[in-house]
Amino acid sequence: MIIEPRMRGFICLTAHPVGCEQNVKNQIDYVKSKGIINGAKKVLVIGASTGFGLASRITSAFGSGASTIGVFFEKPPMEGKTASPGWYNSAAFEKFASQEGLYAKSINGDAFSNEVKQQVIDLIKQDLGQVDLVVYSLASPVRTNPNDGITYRSVLKPIGKTFTNKTVDFHTGKVSEISIEPCKEEDITNTIAVMGGEDWKMWMDALNNAGVLATNAVTVAYSYIGPEVTEAVYRKGTIGRAKDHLEATAFEITDALQAIGGKAYVSVNKALVTQASSAIPVIPLYISLLYKTMKEKGLHEGCIEQIQRLFSERLYTGNAVPTDANGRIRIDDWEMRDDVQESVSKLWEQASTETLPTIGDLAGYRLDFLQLFGFDVPNVDYLADVNEIIPIKSII
Ligand code: NAD
Ligand code: NA
Repeated sequence: MIIEPRMRGFICLTAHPVGCEQNVKNQIDYVKSKGIINGAKKVLVIGASTGFGLASRITSAFGSGASTIGVFFEKPPMEGKTASPGWYNSAAFEKFASQEGLYAKSINGDAFSNEVKQQVIDLIKQDLGQVDLVVYSLASPVRTNPNDGITYRSVLKPIGKTFTNKTVDFHTGKVSEISIEPCKEEDITNTIAVMGGEDWKMWMDALNNAGVLATNAVTVAYSYIGPEVTEAVYRKGTIGRAKDHLEATAFEITDALQAIGGKAYVSVNKALVTQASSAIPVIPLYISLLYKTMKEKGLHEGCIEQIQRLFSERLYTGNAVPTDANGRIRIDDWEMRDDVQESVSKLWEQASTETLPTIGDLAGYRLDFLQLFGFDVPNVDYLADVNEIIPIKSII
């Protein structure tokens, strides 16, 4: 079968297995080129198939020789229909890990459920005994809380007043003004229920109670802050409340892990093109201006560069982990540099449909977006017939 991108709205319905494999290989090569990290040897990654979670799994395995268990929620391929990119990424990860004799098993299911937590605990007991790092990297619009059975939906809205600003449709390049009405009170609690720290705490309690966390185990979850232009809709909006909750939960988890000397961190990461971020209004315009600025300054990083730096220069240096006044690790330091932010806010003023192709990196945005699905990846022959049905032996 010849597979082409098929867009519907902001999502791509198809994914290319060979392109996804090449993306994974490029990330592995990058991590190897940076040398060995004296990091964790047994690692659980929740949200391991794309974005920052996949980069965390690759950095652990190919930077520190770690055994990894990955949890994700992806669509397997079906006759005449491609799998979701995270499925192909995980198939490729497994292939490369096994070529190097690295243990890698995955569980494809709902990480918010008690069943998947129990499956992971059983698998750790059976194969690894304990884990010394747990990466929590879920991004989801919905969560069913297993305790009350209620399905919560997150929203991306401002709190208190209508937000009006520029946005771009990155497919067409059209810059327009967008107005987003303020949320209802219940939108805040619902968004916190999906993207806050409750499920992270449930994971860590379950793992701790089962005795599968090693002495001095570390857990890290990912957050975002960003600039003033996106503040009303991001950090001071509904999703920001969820991130506040996630960040506060880190302290609760550290307290709960006291007996084993465990520690929970939140790392604030850079804005990047992922399936999750492309759905947020205003962010794609900011990212296209940010990419332009950071590339010009030689500061641009993707998920793998961010996570490789997080592990090698923050988490596993052998010294105390540096944090900000709120206890957070900052790997968004280059994005938030004064000169970068000043440049982006100047460009923001100038941004229009006419100017964006020159002042912004719309092309880079589009390329990153297509590459999320395995398209437009260099050195992939897209005219070759491919088998879209790839069996993954260790996905449960
Ligand atoms: P992503 O969409 O690339 O990855 C999400 C992962 O979660 C995938 O592996 C997916 O399979 C998994 N997942 C979703 N629902 C699941 C479920 N119910 N059960 C099991 N797995 C499930 O997202 P990302 O951008 O890498 O985001 C990861 C974290 O990083 C999020 O907390 C996000 O807020 C944060 N972050 C993102 C950015 C950014 O710009 N993209 C910046 C800073 C922080
Ligand atoms: Na992820």
